[in-house]
Amino acid sequence: MNPLLINLESDPQQAQAMAHAMQAELGELEQRHFPDGESYLRLLTDCNNRDIVIFCNLARPDEKTLRLLFLIDLVRDLGARQVGLITPYLAYMRQDKRFKPGECVSSRPYARLLSQALDWLVTMDPHLHRYNSLDEIYSIPSQVVPAAPLIADWIRNNLERPLLIGPDSESEQWVSEVARLANAPFQVLTKVRHGDYDVEVSLPDVDRWRDHTPVLVDDIISSGRTMIETIKHLKHSALKRPCCIGVHGLFAGDAYSHLQEVADVVTTGCIPHESNKITISDALADAAIQQLRR
Ligand code: R5P
Repeated sequence: MNPLLINLESDPQQAQAMAHAMQAELGELEQRHFPDGESYLRLLTDCNNRDIVIFCNLARPDEKTLRLLFLIDLVRDLGARQVGLITPYLAYMRQDKRFKPGECVSSRPYARLLSQALDWLVTMDPHLHRYNSLDEIYSIPSQVVPAAPLIADWIRNNLERPLLIGPDSESEQWVSEVARLANAPFQVLTKVRHGDYDVEVSLPDVDRWRDHTPVLVDDIISSGRTMIETIKHLKHSALKRPCCIGVHGLFAGDAYSHLQEVADVVTTGCIPHESNKITISDALADAAIQQLRR
């Protein structure tokens, strides 16, 4: 029997595209809140003895994780054979160290929670900084789909003479690969974060690239401060209007409008947003098919 893909509060068009690519049936889920705010879930499609793929974008995880766990429990209770998750954005990966005494290293309990419930996991470029791989904290099989080829394709088709800039050392893994695939020069800067909205980024050396378009590439755009501080440096260099590309556009508060004032902003479809220009559904579906065949 073909797999059943259940969309839990994620982009319905992407869910449809993935179901098509995976030759999966799209499940029907009734979902609402009781008057007291507690969640109600009811699956209207038969899942007995079937492989279940849940598509749930885990941006704003505190709102969604409980419902995700309820849904996993529900399909198992109704006889599912295996339950996998496609989450284009995997939450809590940035909390990978105790920076101050007493802090919760949330990536670890979050990984335990999902690993206890799921059989496998597919995601796109999780924030792997102090962890080398998801296997360090997730005990289930996981597959990371790289955004670099998709970003490089978009750059090749849309920008002339790009100069790629990674705002911090973590971004080197993405920027160097995008640069290689797009056949473009790149620079990686250094960043010190003093607080959520307080970052310091080193000066880029762009004199040689004056006729290029600066393209800032980062995995996450949240407060937007990393991008904005980098752009401030570029202003003095009389380069073209920059383009900021984020794999995961979280855009906290008014980050997006601030960023738009100084740059063009492009994101992948990992988190549904008007800046989405880079399609991810086929790449994620391919990875899910591999997991289903394991
Ligand atoms: C962190 O190290 C990430 O790679 C991003 O650079 C960071 O999350 C961006 O955050 P913000 O937009 O708040 O500066």
